[in-house]
Amino acid sequence: MAETKTVGVVGNGQMGSGIAQLAALHGLHVWLLDTDPDALSKARKSVTSNIHRLVSKGHLSQAAFNDAVGRLYCTSKLEELREADFVIEAIVESEDVKKKLFLEVDKFVKSSAILASNTSSISITRLASATSRPSQVIGMHFMNPPPIMKLVEIVRGADTSDETFYATRALAERFGKTVICSQDFSGFIVNRILMPMINEAIHTLYTGVATKEDIDTGMKLGTNHPMGPLELADFIGLDVCLSIMKVLHAGLGESKYAPCPLLVQYVDAGRLGRKRGIGVYDYRKTPEQVKP
Ligand code: NAI
Repeated sequence: MAETKTVGVVGNGQMGSGIAQLAALHGLHVWLLDTDPDALSKARKSVTSNIHRLVSKGHLSQAAFNDAVGRLYCTSKLEELREADFVIEAIVESEDVKKKLFLEVDKFVKSSAILASNTSSISITRLASATSRPSQVIGMHFMNPPPIMKLVEIVRGADTSDETFYATRALAERFGKTVICSQDFSGFIVNRILMPMINEAIHTLYTGVATKEDIDTGMKLGTNHPMGPLELADFIGLDVCLSIMKVLHAGLGESKYAPCPLLVQYVDAGRLGRKRGIGVYDYRKTPEQVKP
């Protein structure tokens, strides 16, 4: 398989913009695509300023900065992805929406292109079934934030070819990541373990066992986690956590995966975490007491 030179990153929220940054820094031409023009311009700004920070810290030359930023292109049209060798989607965690996107992307990209999903939990086999190229569809699950976290979890669908797997692994390694491989079961490795812990932390809060601060301090100092599970849930996005729990519950079929009612209520209330200024914690400038 030819070396990846151009990537398309579809969905430029917190994950997509980080993936685009990695790709630009590692010499690739990068098409950023989002249906929301504000998200697109915010992503371009954040990628540019994050790369520039590397210049300020002396980790990157001005010339390398200019090159990386010069390889970033923004668009809202899937047709523009026709030159992409590799497309990574990081849109909303919904099987229906992702399938619809894959169906469309499949029509516009060249026949040799690989379609990768950054999904946290959704079946790669089912996403692949929306395309005419299931052997070229794969899960490439970055951790948040992609430029910092060292792991990429690769998930092969039922029909993913060895060629697609090797090209995806090569790309992750080019980004300096360590790769782990998972079978295609709901939540894969990381979220199958992490999300029930986060859900249980929210249950612990919901049932009044302890305050949010004590739950987080307990897990930070008691088990050496760098972030408490409730802060981490806010960082990931409570909507993303809820979507993942729903996929685990539906896919693995056990009541232990049922989303905590308090998690559902937070999302219903629009408390999506840091990105909205309020989740389990309140990050706004004049914090009100947020009681469960
Ligand atoms: P986000 O909400 O920050 O960004 C999603 C972006 O996709 C938005 O900018 C939205 O406008 C755009 N979008 C939605 N539908 C689209 C479409 N049809 N075409 C083009 N753009 C579209 O979400 P986030 O947190 O970046 O998550 C994205 C994906 O990455 C999800 O599948 C999530 O499960 C996964 N993920 C999230 C992690 C996290 O910590 N938040 C970690 C690892 C994976």
